[in-house]
Amino acid sequence: MSTELESELTQQVDRRRNFAIISHPDAGKTTLTEKLLLYGGAIHEAGSVKARRAQRKATSDWMAMEQQRGISITSTVLQFEYQNSHINLLDTPGHQDFSEDTYRTLAAADNAVMLIDAAKGLEPQTRKLFEVCKMRGIPIFTFVNKLDRPGREPLELLDEIEQELGLMTYAVNWPIGMGDRFKGVFDRNGRQIHLFERSAHGSREALENVLELGDSRVEELIEEELYYQLKDELELIEGVGPELDLDLVHQGKMTPVFFGSAMTNFGVELFLKYFLEYALKPTARQSTLGEISPTYPDFSGFVFKLQANMDPKHRDRVAFIRVCTGKFEKDMTVNHARTGKNVRLSRPQKLFAQERESIEYAYAGDVIGLNNPGVFAIGDTIYTGKKLEYEGIPYFSPELFAVLRNPNPSKFKQFQKGVSELREEGAVQIMYSVDEAKRDPILAAVGQLQLEVVQFRLLQEYGIETRLEPLPYSVARWVEGGWEALEKVGRLFNTTTVKDSMGRPVLLFRNEWNCQQLQQDHSELKLNNIAPVVS
Ligand code: G4P
Repeated sequence: MSTELESELTQQVDRRRNFAIISHPDAGKTTLTEKLLLYGGAIHEAGSVKARRAQRKATSDWMAMEQQRGISITSTVLQFEYQNSHINLLDTPGHQDFSEDTYRTLAAADNAVMLIDAAKGLEPQTRKLFEVCKMRGIPIFTFVNKLDRPGREPLELLDEIEQELGLMTYAVNWPIGMGDRFKGVFDRNGRQIHLFERSAHGSREALENVLELGDSRVEELIEEELYYQLKDELELIEGVGPELDLDLVHQGKMTPVFFGSAMTNFGVELFLKYFLEYALKPTARQSTLGEISPTYPDFSGFVFKLQANMDPKHRDRVAFIRVCTGKFEKDMTVNHARTGKNVRLSRPQKLFAQERESIEYAYAGDVIGLNNPGVFAIGDTIYTGKKLEYEGIPYFSPELFAVLRNPNPSKFKQFQKGVSELREEGAVQIMYSVDEAKRDPILAAVGQLQLEVVQFRLLQEYGIETRLEPLPYSVARWVEGGWEALEKVGRLFNTTTVKDSMGRPVLLFRNEWNCQQLQQDHSELKLNNIAPVVS
């Protein structure tokens, strides 16, 4: 490779950081995102992201709402610069938008920021998303939010993370007071106290007063009680807690923890500073050519998400590509590994909230949105140079199941076509009964929105009105060893066996308890909550 390209790639990869925020609704993801964008100069006044969200919520027309939701899902990537770092923040849809895309986005992320509400601690959606991060072994940074409100003791929260998630914790900063008495944080590495002044809803960068620990003014500025509490707690965590070990952080075994308040903007900049220092930059990925470095000279990437515009008048589809190696250039022609075709990548887009901006170049760690002429499927690899393929994206355990009925037999063909195309696109998983007489597909999803989207699109794009009949299951498990393994164990109770779109057996359970019971009764049966990837 030319040394010029080599140094360009090294330089660009070095300054790239890519992460997703994982959290439970209401923990403050929108607020934190907004504050990060504020520091990155991408927005000038907090409130812009929220205002858009409110606008979206306020739209009453169903069709328009779906359209907006569609767009809200495409507002997947926020790119901004901060102190010479180029940051890609991958948005993981939550709330009613929660879907398999939320999980798939994590397949494109190099780091995760786990955002926790200090009063609530770990919550269900955070745990689920954490499991996916753990499976991928990506580094996890924790931001404990809402310290300006009464919450749980910091030490107790660290303990919960250690006990329940099995992660070692290292507090990078330590809060001074909480609730009304929240004064700021102590930066353990810089050995400095950052005292904050509240501004209205933290709409601008917070004003900080930075003091050395031993500074005599500290005792004047914070109450004596808080000062001694800080000293005691520091003594404790520095005495018994582990040292920060970046290797363990990068292996996803230790989480650096930050305390703050996104709303009042306390501790956000410190978080950003250390996050950029400690986060993993784009690294080598496994491919059919072996481990491949992000500075490999040829361009390659994979599709992790597809998004169709809900508006039938604008049938554009966007394929989201995570760039893994080399340099992406607008209008370049690439090979499509699955089909062997050549594809010209025109109209590439960088996505910032709902505004689409055209881009010229992208490097490893970046995410680009491409208008998808219908050739891409989730997990597809595109490349230039020598052929290579990245590992696909697995199916994640669905929790909602419903039989999809087509009441109009004369439209059987369109129905089949629609269902199979939407499945290929990754909109929903499809399963079938093992009873050959029952041919109607079972939709399997992780979020309600997926079911709504399938029905809506079948109607809009294929002209088919469908009916959904919910099934009473909430847990799905793939059987290791397939049908053969299943036959060996004989009759099973409190479960229903179905097959996935590749004909593999899947066990459905009404609840987690039934699943655990079956595992206890048949420990020889290996069950997985994620389907193995077949490339
Ligand atoms: P989400 O995207 O994770 O769902 O959360 P979002 O940022 O929308 O925050 C949820 C609520 O929590 C919001 O209140 C938000 O203002 C509040 N919040 C976020 N960070 C903090 C914080 O550090 N401290 C405190 N006290 N509150 C915080 P809301 O009443 O729903 O909205 P709004 O009226 O404030 O806009």
